[in-house]
Amino acid sequence: MRSLKWSTSHAVFVAEIDDEHKEIFEAVSHLQTALSSPGPPPEIPKLTERLIACIVGHFAHEERLMRAARYGSLNWHKQQHDAAKRRVEQFVIQIEQGDPKAGVELVEYLTAWLRDHTRLADRMMGAFLRNHRRVCKMTFRAGTKPVESRAWVDANGERFDPLSK
Ligand SMILES: [Fe+2]
Ligand SMILES: [Fe+2]
Repeated sequence: MRSLKWSTSHAVFVAEIDDEHKEIFEAVSHLQTALSSPGPPPEIPKLTERLIACIVGHFAHEERLMRAARYGSLNWHKQQHDAAKRRVEQFVIQIEQGDPKAGVELVEYLTAWLRDHTRLADRMMGAFLRNHRRVCKMTFRAGTKPVESRAWVDANGERFDPLSK
């Protein structure tokens, strides 16, 4: 199986999300390398644990960003995260029970899932978040400019707060 490598075809163009994706892709790749190495692989539980921590933290981060931006497809996106988490949990149980194929199957599952999910669901989310941030910036500028441009000074030359009058 080809190892999972992050490239711009997976980019969602939101820097912190792309950085987390790179980290997850790398963690999958490290686990894959360890699984294909000859001899007893003592680091498999540690690498699996790290990978899962990255994924769970990343999903929670995306969901926070989507919730904060009131993203309309949050539920659809979260359902995909939840389904992946449930599947990964099953693989972890199989690994802990000593199933020799479970590690490789976990890597295969995540390789396919991450490729599909980042290219569609995450990319859609990224486009929405970028647009949301742009609109927020414009609103902020538009909201502050009139206040700055007005001279809130009364007839005696004293400054005053217009909201208190
Ligand atoms: Fe996602
Ligand atoms: Fe993601």
